[in-house]
Amino acid sequence: MRYSPLLYLAPFAAAITLDTSSVSSIESATSSVAQDMMSYYTGNQPGQVPGLLPGSLSCNPNVEGTYCWWEAGAMWGALINYWQYTNDTTYNNLTINALQFQRGPDNNYNPPNQSRSMGVDDQVFWAFSALDAVESNFPEAGGDNPSWLSLAQAVFNFQHDLWDPLTCGGGFRWQVFSFNAGYNLKNSISNGGNFQLSARLAYITGNSTYGDWANKVWDWMESSPLLQTDANTGTFYIWDNTDSNNNCTDVQNFVWSYNYGTMLSGAAYMYNFTNGSDLWLNRVETILNSTYSLFFPQEFGGNIMYELECEKSLNCDQDQKSFKAYLARWMAVTSVLVPSTAATIKPKLAASAAGAAGQCDGGSDGRTCGLQWTTATWDGTSGVGQQMAALSVMGSNLMTENMRPLTLRTGATSKSDPNAGVDAPSNPAATREPITTADKAGAGILTVLVICVMVGGSAWLVY
Ligand SMILES: *[C@@H]1O[C@H](CO)[C@@H](O)[C@H](O)[C@H]1NC(C)=O
Ligand SMILES: *[C@@H]1O[C@H](CO)[C@@H](O)[C@H](O)[C@H]1NC(C)=O
Ligand SMILES: *[C@@H]1O[C@H](CO)[C@@H](O)[C@H](O)[C@H]1NC(C)=O
Ligand SMILES: *[C@@H]1O[C@H](CO)[C@@H](O)[C@H](O)[C@H]1NC(C)=O
Ligand SMILES: *[C@@H]1O[C@H](CO)[C@@H](O)[C@H](O)[C@H]1NC(C)=O
Ligand SMILES: *[C@@H]1O[C@H](CO)[C@@H](O)[C@H](O)[C@H]1NC(C)=O
Ligand SMILES: *[C@@H]1O[C@H](CO)[C@@H](O)[C@H](O)[C@H]1NC(C)=O
Ligand SMILES: *[C@@H]1O[C@H](CO)[C@@H](O)[C@H](O)[C@H]1NC(C)=O
Repeated sequence: MRYSPLLYLAPFAAAITLDTSSVSSIESATSSVAQDMMSYYTGNQPGQVPGLLPGSLSCNPNVEGTYCWWEAGAMWGALINYWQYTNDTTYNNLTINALQFQRGPDNNYNPPNQSRSMGVDDQVFWAFSALDAVESNFPEAGGDNPSWLSLAQAVFNFQHDLWDPLTCGGGFRWQVFSFNAGYNLKNSISNGGNFQLSARLAYITGNSTYGDWANKVWDWMESSPLLQTDANTGTFYIWDNTDSNNNCTDVQNFVWSYNYGTMLSGAAYMYNFTNGSDLWLNRVETILNSTYSLFFPQEFGGNIMYELECEKSLNCDQDQKSFKAYLARWMAVTSVLVPSTAATIKPKLAASAAGAAGQCDGGSDGRTCGLQWTTATWDGTSGVGQQMAALSVMGSNLMTENMRPLTLRTGATSKSDPNAGVDAPSNPAATREPITTADKAGAGILTVLVICVMVGGSAWLVY
């Protein structure tokens, strides 16, 4: 199943050399890129907080050199993927410690330190990393620590109660807490993130409650202005956010690669969960086709991933610099879950990885990765996002059928706890209704009551 017929080489000599048809070449390149990514991590040093990147305690994505909490969560997932791709266990213990240390007092990735900017999207990225662990049988922490699967289930149970039917006919607000800026917005990464979380839990556990919920989130997004198809070009748009203060009648017209990635892979898991339904196959193909036209522009040959809104002018913020990492991983997962997509996905991952390698020739070490994979001249930028995106796209070329996400029926060993976190003190529902798709409980309002002592915070748009 490994894709190898084409050999993509960076156009010029690069400090990170990569032959995407060679497993050992990818192992060697990803090892260097991962090492440089981890040079930014200090959470394992005395006096530092495990799991966090610099700046994660007061996040502002416009400050160079600092990283929001969610991105640290995503980084641990990238390292689980790296281990799965290469068998290199170097970062496993750091990853286990990080994912457990940041799980919060209720084991649901809602640590009070992060309340001032806690979004549904931020939380779900940590859950994604726990799910990556489940799907690859990444070692459990053991002892009294919660299983990877139960951590993701606890996030599902927490977020379930944030569903807000009182405005816009449903959907998740971006922010968990009403005192944070952005609480009025309903955005695609929060809704699409929860959609993916639900679809993966359905796939892993076979429990149709999760599948019903994924359908509900998709249906709401489709009925909202977040998902739109251009009648002339056929382009499928996943817009950034819509405003509940206007009952979601307007929409912010920005497109980000990670929004396409999260909806794509969620649809791929649902394709599997529905036994290969035409409905979900069509959704996978629809998203994929527009992912190609928007984020793999013909201008650069049509196979190199490109962050449309900000890459060319190099004004991506700290969050945005990492987005291509997620699209790469989620395309690779899709190529396995929906095998008919592999033929078009694999050449794009190969060419993008070669482009990324060409861009990893900067900095004082001569192998620092920039953002612009479409040119082999280092763009002068550096950071965790750039390293993670390069790591993820290179590693994704090692994704094979053998690495097909595991389920509880096909060898995943993480322990399921569908009721994880249900009774947790921080759970938004004071009194819970049974979880059903016909749920009408206006539980979102109750979040206001939680941790309302932590006023005065500000939050930052995740784009
Ligand atoms: C990783 O280990 C597995 C199991 O031993 C093996 O099948 C696989 O080929 C290894 N992968 C790499 C990239 O070395
Ligand atoms: C990880 O930690 C375990 C338990 O503390 C230890 O036995 C193991 O050697 C560590 N592995 C690595 C790769 O450091
Ligand atoms: C929260 O912040 C405090 C103070 O910096 C720190 O001691 C603690 O370890 C942090 N906890 C988490 C989960 O980040
Ligand atoms: C808000 O939007 C929802 C969904 O479109 C609609 O059902 C509802 O009637 C709208 N509410 C108001 C007050 O316009
Ligand atoms: C998929 O197939 C299985 C086994 O035939 C069946 O039990 C299940 O209900 C099917 N799922 C859906 C969503 O059709
Ligand atoms: C769905 O995934 C499971 C587990 O990986 C696999 O056994 C099954 O064949 C897949 N079904 C479809 C329709 O692809
Ligand atoms: C996606 O694009 C392919 C190739 O152009 C086309 O054959 C297919 O019909 C498209 N699928 C959808 C659902 O748009
Ligand atoms: C399925 O998931 C729901 C929601 O978490 C839970 O209430 C239910 O007990 C689960 N069912 C099984 C059979 O695990």
